[in-house]
Amino acid sequence: MVIAMKSVSVPRASLTVRNLDAATKQALRERAARAGHSMEAEIRQLLEQAVGREPAMVSRTGFEGSAGVAVSAGGNAAAGLAGKRIVVVIGGGIAAYKSLDLIRRLRERGGLVRCVMTPAAQQFVTALATGAVSGSQVFCDLFDRAAEHDVGHVRLARECDLVIVAPATANLMARIALGMANDLATAVLLATRAPILLAPAMNPAMWANPATARNVARLRADGMAVVGPETGEMAESGEAGTGRMSEPLAIVAAAEKLFKPQPGPLRGLRAVVTSGPTHEPVDPVRYIANRSSGKQGHAIAAALAEAGAEVVLVSGPVNLPDPPGVDTVHVETARQMQAAVEKALPAQIAVMVAAVADWRTEGEAAQKMKKQVAGGPPVLRMVENPDILKGVANHPMRPGLVIGFAAETERLIEHAREKLLRKGADWIVANDVSGPSGVMGGDVNTVRLISPAGVEEWPTLDKAQVAQQLVERICAHFRETPVTA
Ligand code: C5P
Repeated sequence: MVIAMKSVSVPRASLTVRNLDAATKQALRERAARAGHSMEAEIRQLLEQAVGREPAMVSRTGFEGSAGVAVSAGGNAAAGLAGKRIVVVIGGGIAAYKSLDLIRRLRERGGLVRCVMTPAAQQFVTALATGAVSGSQVFCDLFDRAAEHDVGHVRLARECDLVIVAPATANLMARIALGMANDLATAVLLATRAPILLAPAMNPAMWANPATARNVARLRADGMAVVGPETGEMAESGEAGTGRMSEPLAIVAAAEKLFKPQPGPLRGLRAVVTSGPTHEPVDPVRYIANRSSGKQGHAIAAALAEAGAEVVLVSGPVNLPDPPGVDTVHVETARQMQAAVEKALPAQIAVMVAAVADWRTEGEAAQKMKKQVAGGPPVLRMVENPDILKGVANHPMRPGLVIGFAAETERLIEHAREKLLRKGADWIVANDVSGPSGVMGGDVNTVRLISPAGVEEWPTLDKAQVAQQLVERICAHFRETPVTA
């Protein structure tokens, strides 16, 4: 091959590649394969860079170079991935060999594929092979000057419709769960706003480890989709169990599903939510109340409805509009709230957020109580209100998922754990409502989700985000657990 060097300062120079040593030729061949173009184009680009000219942007930005259907379409090209820009992140596991087939299948269906490889992935498959199969540049290094100059990890993350992590190793998922960005793969995953699909693959003992289970639960709660792993023979000889990466076609099907407009994930399920304070009358003009604003409960009802559930919101007195798409029942007292909740059963989901008054006065005075000049202030005898949460959790029509809240001012987790058991709830959302937290009436909340599986700490979020995250956890629960009324 002879390349005429028209664009550099020497007017008529030429370079014979044949004369280069074998190692240089091999390095050039690999670079060209990774970039998804010819050796000649690679050399031209290197020379242009060397003399300070910008390499041609159009050929290497975005996904233009990787237009799909380079391989036989096999009748699938019309399927759901046509024109979709997909970043495939290949983690370092033996299952990486299947990722090459995955790339091929995605391209068969019209997907435009870019590949990112972790350093460990390159121990299992070469960038050369990945570049050849994907028909485009392969990105391996966060600090690759040329790649960063051309595309950059942020651009790669932003200009895509889906990121598939296959294989998603235990280590890679742990790093994603922590929000780390210490290599190109995790930096892309942290920077992307596109949906993320994880295809875990690892040794069965690693999959069964509580640390991995925690990380996967975290990633699901963060909104990532997970396909697999499957149970069966592992690539390592003599190993069997759960941890095998899903087959490429199963991953493709999961990817296609993400692009289909989804009917609300909670469609067909009914939820009852309580919200706000209760007012317990003392006499016709006075009542006992608390500082609950109803913001959190209303946000949860709205988020459940948005996810497709049929929602009955039983609200104490609040200064909030009824959430759209929600059947709101207005009540004042704990006993009215209890009656409305029971009337809303059967339901599959109960989220008891209301700050129900624990006590009411024994017998409401029929007339306004008068100030006694002689006898001093009246003594109010209190009686206990019904515990609505406990009642629902022990009801013959108990919803499959019963969630309570625990507003505490001290020993948060200890009290919440005790509440989980005493009331028979499945989960308790615990929040610190001590004076400085500003939760009561405020717009943000710092909660912990307590279940028999353990304690999940959530960052400080606004109440709508807490609602969103809780509903995501509810969706994940119903994906994994059969519905019971
Ligand atoms: O016992 P405590 O009031 O701290 O429990 C809080 C949880 O129980 C919340 O989910 C709240 O909605 C619910 N609750 C209830 N009925 C009561 C008291 C609390 O449903 N009478």
